[in-house]
Amino acid sequence: MTAIGMAVPQKRIDNVFFESFLETTDEWIVSRTGIKTRYHTAEDEFTSDLCIKAAANLLETFPGVTLDGVDMILVSTVTPDQPMPSMACRLQYKLDLPQAGALDVYAACAGFSYAVVVAKGLISAGTHRKILVFGAETLSKITDFTDRTSCMLFGDGAGVVLLEADELGNVGACITGASGEGGPDLYISGFAKTIDGHPLKMDRTIVQNGRKVFKWAVTKVAEQMPVLAAKNGLTLDEIDWFVPHSANLRIIEAISNETGFPVEKTLESIVDFGNTSSASIPIALYRGIVTGKVKKGDKIMLLGFGGGLAYAGTVITW
Ligand code: UT7
Repeated sequence: MTAIGMAVPQKRIDNVFFESFLETTDEWIVSRTGIKTRYHTAEDEFTSDLCIKAAANLLETFPGVTLDGVDMILVSTVTPDQPMPSMACRLQYKLDLPQAGALDVYAACAGFSYAVVVAKGLISAGTHRKILVFGAETLSKITDFTDRTSCMLFGDGAGVVLLEADELGNVGACITGASGEGGPDLYISGFAKTIDGHPLKMDRTIVQNGRKVFKWAVTKVAEQMPVLAAKNGLTLDEIDWFVPHSANLRIIEAISNETGFPVEKTLESIVDFGNTSSASIPIALYRGIVTGKVKKGDKIMLLGFGGGLAYAGTVITW
């Protein structure tokens, strides 16, 4: 992993915005979620637009880097501009990368981590040498603004990393997994009216059982952190930074309580950007790097979790 970029739309939404049409308060939102602001796209602004901006930001942030020779584009999103063509194909065209393959990865909040696992596999197999991995969402377009238990959570944004073949490599061993029985607990409806007999709300907005997802996330992530560290020949003490999916600051604090991993060594994007699903991990990592918190050689655990329910992670050495 050699470079990283991010982008959010211009429209910044504070918590007072929700007070104007819902029975809620800034105080409740901050104390129950940690979120202070999030960003919403304009009506004519879409996931591919945010990806283009994130790629431009990557090039600005890492002046020596070029996209010449990119041979694969992976995009994690549940909010593509349209179901077909894929976002990766749109970006292959818009970024003018004629030699690149293009594939979207569909694993919601675990999607960015899953896409990094896939990219590492392709590079390790020797079939690809230079891969762009995007995590990008416009969740505001599929948010139910009448649901006070979810609408204040979600934000729009994009992150991107560049992975290049290298003899040493800085992306370590990976984990992937799922608890598919939790499908009805976090979904966006499509064609089917039920999952495993559970009737679905059919309006194509995000529907969640917040408490169940919260508990699953804390239990699963706390269980998997030492497993992932051990797979990389490390103990949790040897991890410098933990970058979980930013779903709720209280989830991050509860994971810290369960595992004893210090919350100060966690990089988050929830407070300023809300839950940006696929984009939350690269945005948090980007900010850790550009603010100088992350030092060269630091060991960073990425662990995505969410809709599926699914999870994936790896440890990188920056
Ligand atoms: O990326 C993955 C996607 N989703 C998640 O990760 C979600 C994980 N879950 C969560 O983040 C939390 O469960 C929520 C933020 C969704 C909810 O927080 P909570 O602490 O679990 O609240 P709760 O659902 O237990 O509700 C507590 C109370 C309820 O009132 P009663 O029944 O105690 O009278 C809710 O009606 O808070 C009420 N409430 C609100 N009050 C003010 C729920 N939403 C709001 C609100 N403003 N926006």
